[in-house]
Amino acid sequence: MSNIRTAVVGLNMGLDHAHAYKMAERSELAWVVDLDESKAARVAEQLGCRYATDWTAILDDVDAVSLCTPHHLHAPQALTAIAAGKHVLLEKPLANSERDCLDVIEAAERNGVTLMLAFVVRYLPAIRKLKEAIDSGRYGVPISAQGWVEAFLEPMPGTWFASKEKLGGGVLFSHGCHYIDILLYLLGEPARVSHFGTRVGTDWMEGEGTSHGIIEFKSGALAHLISSWGLKYKKTPARYQIHLTEGMLQLNNDMWTVEAVTKDGTETLYQRPPEYPARPGQNVLFEIEHFLDCIATGNRPETDGREILKSHRTIWAMYGSPGVPVRL
Ligand SMILES: NC(=O)c1ccc[n+]([C@@H]2O[C@H](COP(=O)([O-])OP(=O)(O)OC[C@H]3O[C@@H](n4cnc5c(N)ncnc54)[C@H](O)[C@@H]3O)[C@@H](O)[C@H]2O)c1
Repeated sequence: MSNIRTAVVGLNMGLDHAHAYKMAERSELAWVVDLDESKAARVAEQLGCRYATDWTAILDDVDAVSLCTPHHLHAPQALTAIAAGKHVLLEKPLANSERDCLDVIEAAERNGVTLMLAFVVRYLPAIRKLKEAIDSGRYGVPISAQGWVEAFLEPMPGTWFASKEKLGGGVLFSHGCHYIDILLYLLGEPARVSHFGTRVGTDWMEGEGTSHGIIEFKSGALAHLISSWGLKYKKTPARYQIHLTEGMLQLNNDMWTVEAVTKDGTETLYQRPPEYPARPGQNVLFEIEHFLDCIATGNRPETDGREILKSHRTIWAMYGSPGVPVRL
């Protein structure tokens, strides 16, 4: 198969996709698109491709498109690209409602195109190592997982981030979705969930800016995830700590280092190797290569629509179940 002609729509997060397509051997980055023409022109010049402001006008000239646009545009844009027979790498989340998610999934299945969700964290080598370590049984059985997704966003009142409808919820849906997906990937099927969210410290947002979610898995293991866009001052312990009967596995905040604590002390299981330097596009290169590989082979992407719908449904269940409140 000749190189896959690619385009990226939306050049904030999409800038990383564009860099990764430029690096990936199977891809020829043909177009970058943004409503902001000067941004699109700048990126096109930097990466040696063409630019446009109307993404529908360049669809005929590409095989695959990354959609890196605000959440409320995901479903309509994905449906347009799929109807044109294009393979789609869609930034997270899939869409803001279950119905819209299913419409996109079914359209991709009907049209025989690859639909992959850009769940970048799934494809990071350290996450693979964490899963391998848990699945090996060497550390026993998972008991309790904690995750911290602590960030501070400068207030953006009036933008799509501030709108609950356009964002699809609050920080849990928008940013926490990566980390709920990883908890399901690592610990299996959820059985029960509960959730509290608050707008304290993030009252520019309509949805919750800080979220505490709990999952009980079918295995009996428990997980607690804190996600926030309102925490200015922090000393976050790790991204995840997973306690098992014979050890504790930790993914550091750098998202590259995995450590195991056991009776023998602390062992580093994975560290960033020199072949993956810190450079624009490196983190998304793993998912972009998987996307291109699935297009070339016809294989199902690991994070296809149906897989990602599982973690979206978990979040919607959390939103529908604000803890089991006991009034004090
Ligand atoms: N995986 C991650 O770690 C990560 C991080 C940040 C954002 N994202 C995701 O990336 C997507 C975009 O988020 P963002 O933070 O970059 O948003 P943003 O609002 O900062 O940037 C969106 C860009 O898309 C452009 N745009 C909007 N509508 C367009 C259209 N119809 N045609 C062409 N360009 C259009 C805007 O001009 C802007 O440059 C979201 O789905 C978000 O969740 C993922």
